[in-house]
Amino acid sequence: MILVFGSLNIDLVAQVPVIPGPGRTVLAPSYRTHFGGKGANQAVAAARIAGPGRVRMAGRVGRDGFGDSAIENLRANGVDADLVVRADEPTGCAFITVDQAGENAITVASGANMTASAGELPAELFDSDTVLVLQMEVPVAQALEVARRTTLAAGTVVWNLAPVPERMTREIVTELLAVTDHLLVNEHEALDAADAIGLAPPSYEAAAADLARAGDLTCIVTAGAQGALAVTAEGTRLRAPAPRITPVDTTGAGDTFVGAFAAMISEGVLLQRALEVSCEAAALKCLKAGAQTGMPMRSAMGSLA
Ligand code: RIB
Ligand code: NA
Repeated sequence: MILVFGSLNIDLVAQVPVIPGPGRTVLAPSYRTHFGGKGANQAVAAARIAGPGRVRMAGRVGRDGFGDSAIENLRANGVDADLVVRADEPTGCAFITVDQAGENAITVASGANMTASAGELPAELFDSDTVLVLQMEVPVAQALEVARRTTLAAGTVVWNLAPVPERMTREIVTELLAVTDHLLVNEHEALDAADAIGLAPPSYEAAAADLARAGDLTCIVTAGAQGALAVTAEGTRLRAPAPRITPVDTTGAGDTFVGAFAAMISEGVLLQRALEVSCEAAALKCLKAGAQTGMPMRSAMGSLA
């Protein structure tokens, strides 16, 4: 079973001529509402590939309409949402501006996500088949606790170190790496994480190797159009290319990669294959607007045919 402990957001997306700097105002013709939150996105991406009933999500939403629809959306995608609890804070909301080149700027108002708690997760969730998926949009101390429980039960921890917090202490990163089996990052996150533990690698490839060694884990770096790189704790390197596409919206591409990767890990496929499938899923996502809309079903994927 795949267990996602993380955030659920509603994304409010405005297409802007330029992303405004401080003190600036720009006009956008309108805005669109999409389902988002790194946790929910990864749960949906995993469920579209692993199939219904294979993914459970734990987290918090508010007692508001956004919370209702975030839960309904998980269920409509075959994700068990019984562990998504209502909080007094409002449902998380991401304010996203996208410019003409497809670049985005995101502000996440965390709300209910910051009340997510490891305490209410029942022991039955954790066994050697558990593939736990974590990100950085809920309190890290709670995520660490869920990771420890998974590790104790001989499950597998997949941690997407995104978004990188403003202040990331050496202590937290060291603990996080210790409980993680597969660390998933982009190029910047790889360098930031290495920096946080006092290393100064010259490239993201070197950072991946450093992190893999430091945490006795496999570090996977997603590098956009350059595909993905994996470095194992022993230093073995694997690469998978990204299919060539013209992206419409890259929001959620990283989450799609993570969800697909978790689905592949829970099926026990080889790392090289997991990378290839995840690269294809992430590329297909980019063909549609919104974090989740373009996430492919298993049947739409050439690499799983
Ligand atoms: O990774 C994309 C997600 O980040 C968006 O859906 C938004 O909610 C933010 O959390
Ligand atoms: Na580890």
